[in-house]
Amino acid sequence: MSIHIVAPPGSIAESVLLPGDPLRAEHIATTYLTQVVRYNEIRGMWGFTGLWKGHRVSVQGTGMGMPSMSIYAHELIVDHGAKRLVRVGSCGTMSEELKLRDVLIVQATDCDSGMNRSRFGTYQFAPAASFDLLRRAHAKAAELKITAMVGNVLTSDQFYDQKGEEKMHLAQRVGTMAIEMESCELYTLARLHGVDALTLLTVSDSLLSGEQVEPQQRQTTFSAMVELALATLFE
Ligand code: HPA
Repeated sequence: MSIHIVAPPGSIAESVLLPGDPLRAEHIATTYLTQVVRYNEIRGMWGFTGLWKGHRVSVQGTGMGMPSMSIYAHELIVDHGAKRLVRVGSCGTMSEELKLRDVLIVQATDCDSGMNRSRFGTYQFAPAASFDLLRRAHAKAAELKITAMVGNVLTSDQFYDQKGEEKMHLAQRVGTMAIEMESCELYTLARLHGVDALTLLTVSDSLLSGEQVEPQQRQTTFSAMVELALATLFE
């Protein structure tokens, strides 16, 4: 049994969707999958396995921030044999080109966390998406008529950040489009363990205008992104 996920061996599929919120995991599983089984309950950080068009897929909540993502992604890969992990989350846009409700397909991540400094020392690792998943997501988005851009994010340790403005200007200077809190660790672990990872994000708020997507609309755009994630994995 994995220490934090606490799921029986064999209960998790090789392909896994990763929302931050376990209630989102439940929503995705009950909306899109058949023959759904919840394989754990610890901490309320639920995970589910079911079928999408006959393909076995799991949906696991990860919590917020890199340390939480690290625990769940590590156990999914090392203890449960996950091979393809797709984060489905939200981000704040820092770019005029990336609008509220758009989907961002995350190519690579900048980061302000100390985690990779602690891992790699002065070696500056480049956390990047699986090219195979990235190109499939890009093609599928066009096919499904979902407005999606490919770009980089800043994975930040702090949502409420005193230096937020300063970091945003640096990010804009290097063409980084949005901010979120988990993908750097997902991409790093995937590369360290030789598996495929991709992040898809819907833009829930703008750091430029302060606008936020209303909860009801958030659900609609989230659904389009989940459909894109499933099509990317299996079609
Ligand atoms: N900052 C960090 N993470 C986020 C944000 C944000 O503004 N919006 C959605 N996820």
